[in-house]
Formats: sequence, C-alpha cells, structure tokens
Amino acid sequence: MDVVLEGLRRLEYRGYDSAGVAVLTDSGIEARKKSGKLVNLVNVIEESPIADSLTGIGHTRWATHGGPTDQNAHPHLADNGRLALIHNGIIENFAEIKQSLEAKGLEFLSETDTEVAAVLLADIYRGEGKGDLTLSLQLASQKLEGAFTLLAVHEDHPGIVVASRRNSPLVVGLGDDENFLGSDVSGFIDFTRRAVELGQDQIVTITPDTHTITDFFGNPAEGREFSVDWDAAAAEKGGFESFMAKEIHDQPAAVADTLLGRADADGRLTLDELRIDPEMLKKISKIIVLACGTSAYAGSVAKYAIESWCRIPVEVELSHEFRYREPIVDENTLIVSISQSGETMDTLMAVRYAKEQGAKTLSICNTNGSTIPRESDAVLYTHAGPEIAVASTKAFLAQITATYVLGLYLGHLRGNLFTGQIKDILADLGKIPAKIQDILDREDEIKDLARAMSEEQSVLFLGRHVGYPVAMEGALKLKEIAYIHAEGFAAGELKHGPIALIDDGQPVFVVVPSPRGRDSLHAKVVSNIQEVRARGAKTLVIAEEGDEAVKQYAEFVFYVPETPTLLMPLLATVPLQIFACELATAKGFDVDQPRNLAKSVTVE
Ligand code: F6R
Repeated sequence: MDVVLEGLRRLEYRGYDSAGVAVLTDSGIEARKKSGKLVNLVNVIEESPIADSLTGIGHTRWATHGGPTDQNAHPHLADNGRLALIHNGIIENFAEIKQSLEAKGLEFLSETDTEVAAVLLADIYRGEGKGDLTLSLQLASQKLEGAFTLLAVHEDHPGIVVASRRNSPLVVGLGDDENFLGSDVSGFIDFTRRAVELGQDQIVTITPDTHTITDFFGNPAEGREFSVDWDAAAAEKGGFESFMAKEIHDQPAAVADTLLGRADADGRLTLDELRIDPEMLKKISKIIVLACGTSAYAGSVAKYAIESWCRIPVEVELSHEFRYREPIVDENTLIVSISQSGETMDTLMAVRYAKEQGAKTLSICNTNGSTIPRESDAVLYTHAGPEIAVASTKAFLAQITATYVLGLYLGHLRGNLFTGQIKDILADLGKIPAKIQDILDREDEIKDLARAMSEEQSVLFLGRHVGYPVAMEGALKLKEIAYIHAEGFAAGELKHGPIALIDDGQPVFVVVPSPRGRDSLHAKVVSNIQEVRARGAKTLVIAEEGDEAVKQYAEFVFYVPETPTLLMPLLATVPLQIFACELATAKGFDVDQPRNLAKSVTVE
C-alpha cells in the first residue's frame, strides 16, 4: 500500500481531482477512493485501514467523463468486486459499448467511460477470455477506441497486474523481485531506475519477477529498455516553498543541460540524436511550429531566431487550431512540435495530421519515451529534468534553448551562418545560465513588488519583437496561478484598442528591448511606456542593465544582464515568473496545483 501511495504522490501532478487504490488481499480485493487531492484518500485509508498486500494499483484522476466525485474516482470494480481497473485517457466508443452491456443486464454505478472498460473486461473474462486476465484484456482492448492506459487486477490472480496502452503513456519499472507500472518513471523512481517503455497498442503482464509484452492480438512484442537518469531528489522540492519556486531556480541548469554536448569548442553542432536526414533538412522550404500554451510562446520566440539565422519562413500555430483549417503542408515542410510532456493530445493529433500530409516532423520535448517524440521523425530533447509544478517555467527556457540550437544547426546546414557566427552565438548562450543566476540572486526586488501588488485585479504586459511572447508568457503565468486577470499585448497594438483599458493606477509590465539592439525598437517601446503612463498606468519595466533612459518613465525597474536581443527571452521571462509565483503564494494559493489545470493535457 505504501508503495502505491508513494507512487501516487509522485504522480499527483498528472491529475489531482480524485484518487483511489485497489489491492489484492487474502480476503479479496479491497478498494478505497476519494474525490479531491491525494491527502483525502490517505485520510480515508487511515480511518479504514487495508490489510497488507503485495499487489495493488492506484490512480489520480483529472475528470473527463463524469465529474470529480467519489463514485467516479478510480478504481472501478466489476465481476462482483473481484476485478479492479484504472484508466487514463478517453474511451471514445464507451456509450455504444455501455448500451450493449446494459442490454445483457449488466449494471453501472458511475458515469465514467472507465467503468465501461471494467465491466467489459469482466464480461469477456467470464466468457471468451476463459478466466485468463491477459487474454481478456487483449480482447477488450481490441474493442476500445480512443486513448487509454488500462491497468487491471483480479482476485483469481494474486501477484499479477495486466496493462494495456493506446495513445496514452505507460512505462514498466524493473526491480529486484518486484515490478512496477506507471504513467511515467517518477511513479517508481524510489524503487528502481531500470525501465521499459511500451509501444503503441501493447499489453504487458507483470508478476514480481517477469514482464511479458504482446500486441492486442497476443503476438509477442518488445518494449525499449532504458535507464532513468533523473535522481529522486530532482523530483522533490529541494527546500523551496513550492515546486514552481524550485523549478524557477533550476533554470540555470535547465539551460546549461540543454546546451550540453551539442556543440564542440569550434562551434560545430553535433545533433546526431536528431535521427533525420540532413539532406532533407537542407531542402525544407517552411517550418511550422505546433504547440500549446507556454510551449507555443517558446515557438513564437523561435520564429524570430530561426527566421533571422536561417532565412526560412516559420509559422507558429496552436496545435488545436492547425488541423481544422486545411493547412498547406508538403514534404518540404518541417513541423517542429514543442511539448514539455510529450503527451499533449492536441499537439499529438496535429503532428499525426501533418505526417499524414507528408510533412517531416521534429519534436522538441522534455519527457523521454513520451508519445510525441516517439511518433515524430526526429527529436531534440530538452534537458530540464522533471517539471512537477503545473505552470511551466524551466521547461519553457529549455524549449527556447533547444529551438536556438536547432536554428543554429539549420543555419549551418543551409549555409546561412558561418562557423564563426555560430561560435559567437553559442558563446553568448553559454553565458546565459550565469546571467539567470544573477537574476535569481536579486529575486527579492521582484518578490517585494509582487507582495505589494497582491490585491491587484488586473495586470497588463507589453512587449515587442521577442519581448512580445515574453509578455504573453508573463500574463499566462499570472492568470494560471494567481487567478488575476492578465493580458499580454504586442506594444505596437496598444493604440489599436487595448489602450482603452488603461486607467488610473492600472499596472502595466513592459518588456524593454536592449538599447544596443536593432533600429528604433527600443525607442518605440519607450514611447509606448510614455503613452500608457500619460493615461495613469503604473509602469513596471524589465530592461537591460545600463538602460538609464527608461528609469524616468517607470515606477519600478528590474534590470536583466546584457545579452543579444534574440536571446533576451531567456532572461526577461525569469522576473515575470518570480513575480507570478510570489504573488500567488502571497495570496495563499497552491501554486503547484492551480485550480482547473492539469500538467499533462491528454484530452483534446
Ligand atoms: C502553462 C502550461 C501550459 C502548457 C501546455 C502545453 O504554464 O504549462 O500552457 O505549456 O499545456 O503542454 P506541453 O508542453 O506539455 O505540451
């Protein structure tokens, strides 16, 4: 029981509106489940303890079909309480299956698609599955459509857990005389570092000392064994008040690790891991970046850098919009998907669609073994380590870094950048981790501001050029963890409407580009600050060290170290993350698990 609960604790970030466990005891299956966070389940188990057991399954839920109630929590029991099943994903044809099972006189207690899978499995087990749990799950999986990871135990089979996966993640952990299953490795990282990643449409049966993989038709199959290099402490808070605060502080390492091993001292990039033919990359005529949320803002930053370095047109599109507009994609289009989790269903579906249209797909991802990189032609992993807080921070900076690496690689390959130029940019990138650390060392300046602003009702963010996605990201962070109305705008757009929002005392963050940078960009943004200030705004400015000109127009200035304009998002984002985290903490909110949000959005 403790092992299952510990695994759930580590996986709680994947969904946390209810939790449950089922274990096989000498007297049969015992299950407990409860809506709300894991602690509620722990309390239920304390009040009503379960006998010792060596086999069990557990689940944390983010509701899709059926609200987050006790009844709808997993596991779901069937076969008169002799079988227990848990599920991640959505079973698309559940209504149809439910009807046919009801027609046979079978009954349902919940509104979930999961219970349909449980009752179906039990029905097959009693019939054509002939009491063989693995065979029954194979047959049941053949009938199900949609996305699912299913795990089941049955009273008749102590010491056995069977699992099935389609479009949803599942990894096996191989221990000494004990084996594990998890949606990702953090579920069993305390017990083993040997893991096996399951392929699409596979079934695995584990006992304490065996794991057997087949496809849905019983044909033997193999998973990919790998060893987990995340240490357990990396998945803990490390002394910070929240995972988010810790992850903000992990950012120097996240950027450094993402650069690590990708270039030699002479500026030669080594991206053998990409698994894509360089000749193909030379031929691409267009890049489309597909991503959602924060990852899409990383894509927007990438657009500026890749277009500037490679002279290839780059479009950035939200994954969920992409495939519904008949996009123009062909074999000379490179799709770059960006996803921290590698499981975001909107992005996965967009990548699949692009592949069907003949495009080459490259995934920038933080989660080894996840679905999107596995289904892409090429992959460039970010090395931010596990990101536990729902609001993305270190993954964002690592994603931007990875897109820079990709841009430099393409620029070199296509002859747009000389080795010397690449070497200079890499040298500037190499200095970024220390510059982020410098910002973190001065975080109290921004934390004081955040605490003083904890009663604000609305905060606006302005930026131009690469400062624009930074402004969007600053606003998103504030919305999602502090529940404050926040909007990010391109500063030039202000006069086309949003300036009407400016009233006395309206706080406005402005991300100011370097005064050493291009053309009149700096001057334009300084004018924008004046425009909003003249209308009563409280101006809060993120500017580059040495930019004295902005001081006179700002109520508050936070200086970030000097860096080339294209790399500026890696620095300017950090104070905005600290601001949101501190403000939400001051309001007493759980910054790691904001309401209504889940870390991996595995439904469309
Ligand atoms: C915001 C946030 C989300 C994710 C988005 C995509 O802080 O975390 O907006 O960025 O759901 O998730 P991934 O990158 O896992 O595809």
